[in-house]
Amino acid sequence: DKGNHRHFMQKEIYEQPEVLSHTLGAFVDMTTGRTRLPKDQAIDFSKVRRIALSACGTGFYAALVGRYYFERYARIPCDLDVASEFRYRESPLADVDLALFVSQSGETADTLASLRYAKGEGLATAAIVNVEESTIAREADHVFPTLAGPEIGVASTKAFTCQLMALAALAIKAGVDRGVILPEREIEFTRILAEAPRLANEAIRLEGAIEALSRKMATKKHALFLGRGFSYPLALEGALKLKEISYIHAEGYAAGELKHGPIALIDETMPVVVIAPHDRSFEKTASNVQEVAARGGEIVLFTDAKGAASGIVDGAELIVLPDMPEILTPIVYAIPLQLLAYHTAIQMGTDVDQPRNLAKSVTVE
Ligand code: F6R
Repeated sequence: DKGNHRHFMQKEIYEQPEVLSHTLGAFVDMTTGRTRLPKDQAIDFSKVRRIALSACGTGFYAALVGRYYFERYARIPCDLDVASEFRYRESPLADVDLALFVSQSGETADTLASLRYAKGEGLATAAIVNVEESTIAREADHVFPTLAGPEIGVASTKAFTCQLMALAALAIKAGVDRGVILPEREIEFTRILAEAPRLANEAIRLEGAIEALSRKMATKKHALFLGRGFSYPLALEGALKLKEISYIHAEGYAAGELKHGPIALIDETMPVVVIAPHDRSFEKTASNVQEVAARGGEIVLFTDAKGAASGIVDGAELIVLPDMPEILTPIVYAIPLQLLAYHTAIQMGTDVDQPRNLAKSVTVE
């Protein structure tokens, strides 16, 4: 049931504030502010030397954010592969003490095969899954549920942000286990994570402004998405979302890669979507944006008040999000990117919930 929404995708975008708080509740005791593993599962992250992360599609981009989280907040080095590569790469898996998989459906063939491969190699396995009765949930040693509820739209939205929430909470837990995060800071972090639903609501309120932008986007054949640091995986996810439902050719890049090739594509007709909260990467991204502006590219900038006030990007179309701590930016900035893809697809008249050639769950290689 779509309720009063036009599509499941829109309904699922709107559900995010609520399901983010459900997912957080599985990882945090809200009365003490302490992180915990769901269902009293035991992983001692102080013993984990290295994590191998693996997933497909949007789950892979969540895992890429997860890598940044584990490395930044828990100081655990991570490997990361798309599942279709992990299972055949024959990596020596040196020092890997945990293989962590991310899947909405829990049935994706390559992710399941990678899980079985990791088990065969004698690794401890864990899975972040949305469907608790799925094969991946059954076979993994540890299961961390995302409580996004059923996701019907083929383009993943609420499952993605719940995956990010689960990964953020796990990274904080891991940081605590390792003594990298002290108890007072743990409480501060969980308080910050608890702000996600409110901020997600504010992001949803940008829908009108984003719909206006989508009218222009719908006239384009191509688009580039750029981001750095925590926003790099979002550039990839924003481009995937746009291409899969609007069929506009979109590519995501790390902003620093621009000058290594894609800048050749920039002319007056190329829209460049930049995800740049005013974080530690901002100044560097801003100088990449200036390179685009100098070549006449049309810039759409997702930033906050500080980023907007920096004036470095005069002439850009601005979508201004609320200020927030860095750990929340991937979760909250995902929402306007979902809305941009959604409204562009509506302009294009495509089948938003059932895009051509795609299946909700990919159970063949
Ligand atoms: C994109 C999308 C796909 C899935 C991918 C993995 O919007 O939905 O890229 O993310 O097929 O699926 P799960 O997460 O079910 O393993």
